[in-house]
Amino acid sequence: MKVSYDFRDSVVVVTGGGHGIGAGLCRAVAQAGGVAVSADIAPDPALSENAGPGHIDVERVDVGHGGELEEFLRAVIDKHGKIDAFVQAAAIQPRQFIEDMAPETWHRIMDVNLNSLFYAARVLMPHMKARRSGTIVAFASGLAQTGWAKASGYATTKAALIAFIKSIAREGLPYGVRANIIAPGITDTNLFTGPNDPEEQEFFRVRGGGVGTVDEVVPLLMFLISDASRSLTGALLSRDLIIHPSATTGS
Ligand SMILES: NC(=O)c1ccc[n+]([C@@H]2O[C@H](COP(=O)([O-])OP(=O)(O)OC[C@H]3O[C@@H](n4cnc5c(N)ncnc54)[C@H](O)[C@@H]3O)[C@@H](O)[C@H]2O)c1
Repeated sequence: MKVSYDFRDSVVVVTGGGHGIGAGLCRAVAQAGGVAVSADIAPDPALSENAGPGHIDVERVDVGHGGELEEFLRAVIDKHGKIDAFVQAAAIQPRQFIEDMAPETWHRIMDVNLNSLFYAARVLMPHMKARRSGTIVAFASGLAQTGWAKASGYATTKAALIAFIKSIAREGLPYGVRANIIAPGITDTNLFTGPNDPEEQEFFRVRGGGVGTVDEVVPLLMFLISDASRSLTGALLSRDLIIHPSATTGS
């Protein structure tokens, strides 16, 4: 059984869309004929090359500044007429013991990972409710449940995002506006290799359920932003155990 998507006439905004999972999603949306808007503090202009049959707009946005994010989203709506899906992949994870963490660092983590979705939703919810259509996807993490030494700020935001998404899902329910959240499982991106020291990486590779790839996570996001999941809202899709190709062939 194979699935394919038709995203023609769809506008999908992906924060953190310059690298890792977000960039993979932008490529998949464009390949399905849609318009992907990649918004990242470190944009990758090469992302828009050979992206078709749809295309990728590459924008520099710091989601940690609420006003900048709101202005960017309004500009996307002005340019494309609508936003069908918004995916909040942008996140940071500075690792510090709590006694070493400056308040500025704590607040920056809250601003980038959590408060950004509040500012985005302030623009997106009225827009999507008026259109009686639209979907928002955020990212949780396994660390929201387990916690992790030196990752208190990151883990806190990921737990809070679950409650936030479930709440706006209820607000959107009468209007057909959906909001879901995915814990993608350990995935081989900068956000895995950057914060985790070699010992921690080995832990996740051997005992923590393994390390997945961007290509394994992207189809789950395509499902969440497409009509295929039209009856799903307020859900946490958690990919704690990763099925590797070797497992299915028995090798
Ligand atoms: N990789 C994993 O193992 C893993 C596990 C659980 C959850 N996640 C979640 O998946 C999502 C995607 O992460 P990823 O693994 O692709 O990591 P990544 O580091 O490759 O991507 C994150 C992106 O966010 C961007 N970004 C950071 N600060 C920003 C800001 N202020 N404004 C705009 N963009 C900003 C970065 O430039 C980067 O492109 C994140 O929300 C992360 O928390 C990842």
